[in-house]
Amino acid sequence: MASVVKRIAVLISGRGSNMEAILKEAQDGILMDCCQVVLVVSNRSDALGLTIAQDMAVKTVCVESKGKDSTTFDRRLLEALEPYTFDYLVLAGFMKILSPLVIERYRHRIINIHPADTALYQGAHGYAWAFETGRSSTTITVHYVDEGTDTGPVIAQTDVDLTGAKTLQEVKQRGLAVEHRFYSQVLHQVFTGRQS
Ligand code: GRF
Repeated sequence: MASVVKRIAVLISGRGSNMEAILKEAQDGILMDCCQVVLVVSNRSDALGLTIAQDMAVKTVCVESKGKDSTTFDRRLLEALEPYTFDYLVLAGFMKILSPLVIERYRHRIINIHPADTALYQGAHGYAWAFETGRSSTTITVHYVDEGTDTGPVIAQTDVDLTGAKTLQEVKQRGLAVEHRFYSQVLHQVFTGRQS
């Protein structure tokens, strides 16, 4: 039976390496039969990920957050999303906390990746936390987004071995390499109900 293609919008704030990995998998990889990226949205006009998405022929929109309070930003974000039809909002390095306004509109349809076990560490700089506390591993978490900061139901987790990592840069490299594979694998599972 042919699987239904889920339409997604990806939200970013910067580098967009997870977004790039998802775009590649959707165009020519494990997500190609189950996922179409209809839009990439950034809250920063200088986000490198916007250029990457444009180079990959994906529609982009910037809703600048600088200078706006969070209610105003979220209203603008909802206005920007409204013309598009999609099933899921996929956060990939999106550094804003979404207000209940957005959560309610897309409840159970917003997914995020976090570089730590969300039960142990929430918020930005998860790799710095893992490095500075001398952890021998970190647990990458893909979860649904609720009103809290990294408090939503966990979808899947995977461990990254950090033993012997001497710098924060090394910790990030090891973690991101796993994130780039794992996020698409988990999205595949969510969109199809099957392991990839
Ligand atoms: C990743 O470590 C992700 O887990 C976290 O923010 C970082 C984003 O990196 N939420 P990138 O923009 O995808 O390169």
